[in-house]
Amino acid sequence: MQTVQNITESIHYVGCNDRRLEKFENIFPLPNGISYNSFLINDEKTAILDTVDSSVTEQFLENVQGALAGRDLDYIVVNHMEPDHCGNIVELSRLYPNGKIVANKKALNFLDQFYPQVDLKENYHQVKEGDTLSLGKHELTFIFAPMVHWPEVMFTYEKTEKILFSADAFGTFGALHGNLFADELDYDLLYGEECRRYYTNIVGKYGKQVTKAMGKVSEFDVQMIAPLHGPIWRKDTSYLWDRYTKWSAYEPEKKGVVLVYASIYGNTASAIDYLATRLSNLGVTDLRIYDVSKTHPSYIIADIFKFTHVIISSSTYNLNIFPPMKAFLDEMAQLDIQNKKYALIGNGSWSPTATKQLTQFFAEFKNWENIAEPITLSTTLSETQKNEFDQLAAGIAASVSA
Ligand SMILES: Cc1cc2nc3c(=O)[nH]c(=O)nc-3n(C[C@H](O)[C@H](O)[C@H](O)COP(=O)(O)O)c2cc1C
Ligand SMILES: [Fe+2]
Ligand SMILES: [Fe+2]
Repeated sequence: MQTVQNITESIHYVGCNDRRLEKFENIFPLPNGISYNSFLINDEKTAILDTVDSSVTEQFLENVQGALAGRDLDYIVVNHMEPDHCGNIVELSRLYPNGKIVANKKALNFLDQFYPQVDLKENYHQVKEGDTLSLGKHELTFIFAPMVHWPEVMFTYEKTEKILFSADAFGTFGALHGNLFADELDYDLLYGEECRRYYTNIVGKYGKQVTKAMGKVSEFDVQMIAPLHGPIWRKDTSYLWDRYTKWSAYEPEKKGVVLVYASIYGNTASAIDYLATRLSNLGVTDLRIYDVSKTHPSYIIADIFKFTHVIISSSTYNLNIFPPMKAFLDEMAQLDIQNKKYALIGNGSWSPTATKQLTQFFAEFKNWENIAEPITLSTTLSETQKNEFDQLAAGIAASVSA
């Protein structure tokens, strides 16, 4: 059954939801699914802006055919050549052989790589930064946004209705609930956290490039933002814009402490519970405790972006950091998170090397400020070491309130 919705009189939503997929990019858990957004402009010429993942082809084609109502497709605009969005270009080209593929050089190179079995070169319509394409009443301008996820990414601005088609930027995990617009539901409740988890894990590494792309966009009068995942914004776009401004500058949103531990038998966990209790007694609010063996790194990384302080603690395992913590740290290091205050705790029963290894690891991080000497536990938090923990708590509390 068709699930087309009108964004404006002549711009239609033809995207689809997947609520079955377990992991986005085969790594990020999707407890609430994902939407793959796609937009069809019905003017003197017809154009589709991005396609959808191959897992939802059937629904997508039904939507496109319904929205076109027998018309031919003149243009397929490719803002992002990642498979979750380009997965139906070949299929559309087969159904609409006259459709020109509007994309930049990098995207067309990827198209050649991804689908060597077909040759669509005759239909290529290569665009450069700032090029425009008239569809009749509607005019598209292409704004390059390299590394706002991938190198070929571009945004498309539609002049008449003042819509920014923003590729992955401003998107979120979480399928749509029928309500297409962010103002039709409680966005903060349904997508607020997931939008942060999406940004920080998918685009978080590329803060500089996001800032640059936002600078280009600010030259345009944007009344609506249509990302490739999640709801569309036609009101209060400053909410989203402000969040992105902070995130791309690695500016914490709130004072607070994320305590991340890796614990084999629970002793490190217990020490962290003690530390958090002390912090709370000292008036520190917004504490978050995570066990890396339990919680997927993407959730922890989102909170690390959000808050000012991070405490990392790990037991030693065969003279190394406990592997789940090591995996977490590797994932975090890849994202180049910046501007954090941190302290470290190691644990071990005979040769507690984790402390030193954690220290070495964090020394490499850009713009991370160590606020306390690392502490090493001998299996349990003993009465004699409680004092050290109390001092650590006092130091963290002072730093948070500074
Ligand atoms: C397979 C294995 C390897 C371990 N390797 C070390 C080690 O190399 N050095 C060390 O001091 N402790 C080692 N330990 C002991 C743990 O580090 C210790 O039990 C832990 O720090 C206690 O805290 P926890 O209950 O939070 O895991 C090892 C434990 C296990 C199960
Ligand atoms: Fe992407
Ligand atoms: Fe995407």
